[in-house]
Amino acid sequence: MELIEQHQRGYSLPQAFYVEPHIFNADMDRIYRRHWLLAGPTCRVPQPGDYFTYQIANDSIVVLRNESGTIRAHHNVCRHRGSRIALDEQGHARRLVCPYHNWAYDLNGALCAARHLPEEVDQTTLGLHPVAVRVIDGLIFVCLADAPPPFDQTEADVSEFLAPYRLDRTQICRREVEVIRANWKVVAENFWECYHCAPTHPEFCSVMSYAHAQNNERLAEERRAFERDWEVATRQLGHKVGRVEWSDRGLHQGGRVAIRPGFVTQSRDGRPVAPLLGDLTQYDGGITSFMHFPLIWYVVSNDHALLTRFTPVSPLETELELTWLVRDDAVADRDYDPDNVCWLWKTTAEQDRTICENNQRGILSSRYQPGPYTTAESSVNDFVEWYMKEFQGETA
Ligand code: FES
Ligand SMILES: [Fe+2]
Repeated sequence: MELIEQHQRGYSLPQAFYVEPHIFNADMDRIYRRHWLLAGPTCRVPQPGDYFTYQIANDSIVVLRNESGTIRAHHNVCRHRGSRIALDEQGHARRLVCPYHNWAYDLNGALCAARHLPEEVDQTTLGLHPVAVRVIDGLIFVCLADAPPPFDQTEADVSEFLAPYRLDRTQICRREVEVIRANWKVVAENFWECYHCAPTHPEFCSVMSYAHAQNNERLAEERRAFERDWEVATRQLGHKVGRVEWSDRGLHQGGRVAIRPGFVTQSRDGRPVAPLLGDLTQYDGGITSFMHFPLIWYVVSNDHALLTRFTPVSPLETELELTWLVRDDAVADRDYDPDNVCWLWKTTAEQDRTICENNQRGILSSRYQPGPYTTAESSVNDFVEWYMKEFQGETA
């Protein structure tokens, strides 16, 4: 297709990729309905019967905990004449009852009541369409594909790093949803680089010392020395260090990163903001974060975690859900101040929304043309190359 040929390697994409409805629809088919997505934390559905709905373009799914405590997900589409069933963002139900003619489904998706259904119709064939679910250390991943891509390696790699934090034993400190008026790939590109960090994120740069070190040789040397010391001290605590890189291991990369000297968590002054998570008994001054294609990212400090969920809504809109987690037995305003827990990423996400929306406005201009990625944007280039392969259907 002509558009694909217009893309020059090492450059941002032709305008159509960021604005056209037919490309958006293809993105949903080839990427969002094919790959694993982060739906939310297990603590969003702590009890059997708890559910939440997740809208992904035209698809809506219900993520719930069934009677035996297992997390399941179903398409939110009635098998009678197709009505949306669960209408709320979240709730609690022993059965999912369609509001149209009251067909009822149990928590495993089986149809259990349908008035006047002819006897010859086999009720057992009318269960809700299932959605694949994998739970990794308290994080619920879903995949809309009939044959989801492999996820075992991702699970193994992520779990090795997340296990000590026991994210399955957390609670939601705060959850916020906003719409970024930009194509999901504009948001993704912004997210895959920190080239914009110095001009855009003074607070982030004041917390993570690697940001300024990218632009200054003296700071870079200090940072390298700090990282060496941090790794030794962190190993001595028995905590994990190191990273998992892209490659053929899967669509994820991540691991541990030191914050800055004197900072034990990602807070304004570097001091604790909540009780230590999980099995930790001491702060180590590092974070654990992972990114997965297409656009999943989460970061865990020693005493709180942030999950981001980016979901394309339309060619020019992307929903961002931010969920902060703290230990399940922590009490708000006694053990933690939610504003302090959320400070860094709330501030940073607002700045990112502004720059993404500015970027999209410029891309809509008749004068937009693709520009070259710099050496500080190699991850963006990796993302775009991966995207183009998926778009063309070259990868399995
Ligand atoms: S569409 Fe659901 S019961 Fe009729
Ligand atoms: Fe940013």
